[in-house]
Amino acid sequence: MSSSAPTLTVRVACKAVEATDICSFELVAAEDSAPLPAFSAGSHVDVHLPGGLTRQYSLCNDPHETHRYLIAVLRDPASRGGSQAMHAEVQEGQLLQISAPKNHFGLAHDARRSLLLAGGIGVTPILCMAERLAMVGADFAMHYSSRTRARTAFVERIAASPFAPQVHFHFDDGDAAQKLDLAGLLKDPQAGAHLYVCGPKGYMDAVLTTARASGWPESQLHYEFFAAEVAKSETDASFEVQLASSGRVITVTKDQTVTQALSAAGVEVQTACEQGVCGTCLTRVLSGVPDHKDVYLTPEEQAANDQFTPCCSRAKTARLVLDL
Ligand code: FES
Repeated sequence: MSSSAPTLTVRVACKAVEATDICSFELVAAEDSAPLPAFSAGSHVDVHLPGGLTRQYSLCNDPHETHRYLIAVLRDPASRGGSQAMHAEVQEGQLLQISAPKNHFGLAHDARRSLLLAGGIGVTPILCMAERLAMVGADFAMHYSSRTRARTAFVERIAASPFAPQVHFHFDDGDAAQKLDLAGLLKDPQAGAHLYVCGPKGYMDAVLTTARASGWPESQLHYEFFAAEVAKSETDASFEVQLASSGRVITVTKDQTVTQALSAAGVEVQTACEQGVCGTCLTRVLSGVPDHKDVYLTPEEQAANDQFTPCCSRAKTARLVLDL
């Protein structure tokens, strides 16, 4: 299966423990002191890991910096190998292949106020946004929720930053008074206010459900899932995909993804996350109805049924005709 091509070689200048099960990696150009391509708040890079895996990690340093990229990785016992490889196999001094920064989670330039919500390791793009908003003197507040203080990365960095008073911490094991009151925070959406959220799926679902129920327009909601469980269902069945260019029909078995079936038939679709998160594999659907399992497309985009993510999504009809 193919993935996005690496375009940069970087060296791990520093690997540091930021919190329980969270390590940061400072990446610099392989050639000392060469500047790295610029990035904007909310960007991520694809990191090509030992063993052939590719994972996306958000950049969490000040987007002004060109001498380094800083990423942070949570060791996830349920991971399919990406976070384990970063923690166990990637060491200081090592060279890594990465993509240039890409941004699917940018700041809205016309925002009058920004509300930044981070859950756990989802702090990485959110912290980068806070750096940027603070630098330009924008009006914002950040709420950072995590299970315990010990599992909260970048507490000292935030405390030492000029925007420390704008950041509110919420610990699951803390007292009731400091818990995040989502309904209270999100009530009365204001014109020009934009909400950004990143974190585990349950946290993001809670934030987005509450925001939508409180009347936030979709255009003022910005989110990036950094990991997602691709829901397998009992009803997952075999179906066919047809390539519009050649008319060829390929069967996707019950246990295969569309990209796996295509790859086995010699048809490569570029992938990265393989979890319906990044949109790299997005493919146009010319007929048939996809069974969307991604978290990349908006509900409106999914409902249009004219594109899908073949790394995880399936079909509700016996055949999908794909623009391939
Ligand atoms: Fe990331 Fe399919 S590869 S959404």
